[in-house]
Amino acid sequence: MNPYQTLRSVLRFRPIETDPIRRRLARTASVEDLRRIARRRLPGGVFDYIDGAAEDERTLAANQAAFASVTFRPRVLRGVGAIDTASTLLGRPLAYPLVLAPTGFTRIADPQGELAVARAAQRAGLPYTLSTLSTRSIEEVRAVSDGRLWFQVYAWRDRALIKEMIDRAAAADYEALVLTVDTAVLGRRERDVRRGFSLPPAIGLGTLVDGALHPGWTLAFARSEPIRFANVVGREVGDGAAPVTLSDYVNKQFDPGLSWADVDWLRSNWSGPIVIKGVQTTEDALLAVDAGVTAIVLSNHGGRQLDGAPAALSLVSPVADAVGGRIEIICDGGVRRGSDIVKVLAAGATAAMAGRAYLYGLGAAGEAGVNQVLEWFRADIVRTMNLLGVPAVSDLNRSLVNLPPDWRAAA
Ligand code: GLV
Repeated sequence: MNPYQTLRSVLRFRPIETDPIRRRLARTASVEDLRRIARRRLPGGVFDYIDGAAEDERTLAANQAAFASVTFRPRVLRGVGAIDTASTLLGRPLAYPLVLAPTGFTRIADPQGELAVARAAQRAGLPYTLSTLSTRSIEEVRAVSDGRLWFQVYAWRDRALIKEMIDRAAAADYEALVLTVDTAVLGRRERDVRRGFSLPPAIGLGTLVDGALHPGWTLAFARSEPIRFANVVGREVGDGAAPVTLSDYVNKQFDPGLSWADVDWLRSNWSGPIVIKGVQTTEDALLAVDAGVTAIVLSNHGGRQLDGAPAALSLVSPVADAVGGRIEIICDGGVRRGSDIVKVLAAGATAAMAGRAYLYGLGAAGEAGVNQVLEWFRADIVRTMNLLGVPAVSDLNRSLVNLPPDWRAAA
């Protein structure tokens, strides 16, 4: 055999990709790859704000480790044909069981910010939750999306401000309110403390050096309109026109006195579904049932609040057993692959929620990066269900996974 001919038969040069974003994405295969690119492209303070968590970041690590500790029990020879990833949540359809989590200050990852994420979510057929502390307003986000939008509320001390925001969300046809209940005060995020990280990033000597080392981000940041807390522009609570640390802002503006009575108050001011985000015990899940809310999100805020809180995934099966189908369960924290979403469902939740995963995509490649993550998740779910021998989301159950036995006691 002529060695030249052998070589020629296997030579394949990829066409040269001229679009820089497509070129960047062409060599990625996982959310972790996008995280690495985001780390390179974003200034250190911005990346650490997104990537970091509270204190020793044990809960952050636990969220992901929990997925590693669940193994599958795949069934074979079951004649699985087409896979259907579609599901329902709050009584309405979604392309696969995932909700995009609310994330604050999304424009620091990319100038389009929440607009890019909302468009990508709609394209993927998934609900997107806009944060109270968003950098695009309730109305701006609705203007770019006809899809399912949820609105996240914090407990502002100024209840009139909450009322005004939820009225705006209703007028803009947001479907559900997500009340975050794990942020009585802000968790101590030591990466941010060390850097003195503020929002918007204050420009000092350190930031100037950081910015010079990340010219792509710096140019885009300088060219776009100033980053503001878009839902409260010009209000006396402060809109981020002057840099403020998140802990100062949250501790001053949010009410640690929030209680179940406030959930009743919310109920009397909002006619749609209410979702409580940040439930971490069976006791509180049962109180949420009593309060008549539609869904809970088992969440430790991505490990950003109470370090030492349990992995969200570990709560799913005990909480599902306790509430017995009376309330929908969403599990948030640590989702990096579609197979993680399958584990959440098999353990007994209705859907998963993810924030960092799409932020890494946004930071690495803008809207195209978010599209990429959401498409990977869909394809992962199809592949995983094929390999598990399960044709439909409604067939996912605990017989398909091995859950660590001590999880039962944890919740
Ligand atoms: C905001 O909610 C954050 O976790 O940084």
